[in-house]
Amino acid sequence: MKLKDKVALVTGGARGIGAAIVDRYVAEGAQAAVADISFAHARETATRHGDKAFAVALDVTKTASIEAAVESVVQRWGGVDILVNNAAIFDMGPIVEVTEASYDRVFAVNVKGLFFTLQAVAKRMIARGQGGKIINMASQAGRRGEALVSIYCASKAAVISLTQSAGLDLIKHRINVNGIAPGVVDTPMWNEVDALFAKYERRPIGEKKRLVGEAVPFGRMGLPEDHTGAAVFLASADSDYVVAQTLNVDGGNWMS
Ligand SMILES: NC(=O)c1ccc[n+]([C@@H]2O[C@H](COP(=O)([O-])OP(=O)(O)OC[C@H]3O[C@@H](n4cnc5c(N)ncnc54)[C@H](O)[C@@H]3O)[C@@H](O)[C@H]2O)c1
Repeated sequence: MKLKDKVALVTGGARGIGAAIVDRYVAEGAQAAVADISFAHARETATRHGDKAFAVALDVTKTASIEAAVESVVQRWGGVDILVNNAAIFDMGPIVEVTEASYDRVFAVNVKGLFFTLQAVAKRMIARGQGGKIINMASQAGRRGEALVSIYCASKAAVISLTQSAGLDLIKHRINVNGIAPGVVDTPMWNEVDALFAKYERRPIGEKKRLVGEAVPFGRMGLPEDHTGAAVFLASADSDYVVAQTLNVDGGNWMS
């Protein structure tokens, strides 16, 4: 067990990649707070693990909600050893059709929410003096632009940049900040992505998802479970000397 008795806070932990990380962390001996805007789904995920997990209501776009969620974990389990900053939303559209509301929504969750959750947890890790591990969920979308995905791509490029800056600033406190960049992963989010591609590229539902899966060098889309090994590595002592990196976990889609 690589995470015995560690306390993890996983944002967006109710479903998809976040839920798979919760399941794996508990299997590795950790206790996990499943923090999500969808409290009912967070509770379903947490219930699988008895007293090793609990659900926390969290809207990362509201700093008061972040404070309350982080504090509830500290009160219950004494501190946070591992933060997985995983909550995010997707939107897309041609450049000339992107609305201010869509831009604000995506950046509020994917960038501002991620940053202030990192800050709230980092403050407590510093005060406690035991270091910690922070893992930001980026994306291959942050490695290069896409014609129809400008704002989401920019938000994930910002995640990679914040991972570098926070990683460099916080390592003196023995807090490792690193990221994971998935490629295309079969989660509820990708069903939303597929529906939007169907609309903008006039495709039948399911076609884009099939095509992106076939294009992965590994030969298929990622599954949520494909990301849990990297999430354990970056949360464990095995990665103590890994600082400010974003690791591609994408079946070979991207190579830098
Ligand atoms: N699915 C993919 O192909 C893919 C690819 C690259 C990167 N990613 C990234 O991986 C992470 C997980 O993706 P997923 O596919 O599992 O997504 P998902 O949509 O299936 O799950 C995201 C979770 O975040 C929660 N959430 C949304 N807004 C929130 C908010 N304001 N506050 C708190 N929680 C909120 C949702 O309720 C949901 O449970 C995201 O950061 C995503 O950008 C996904």
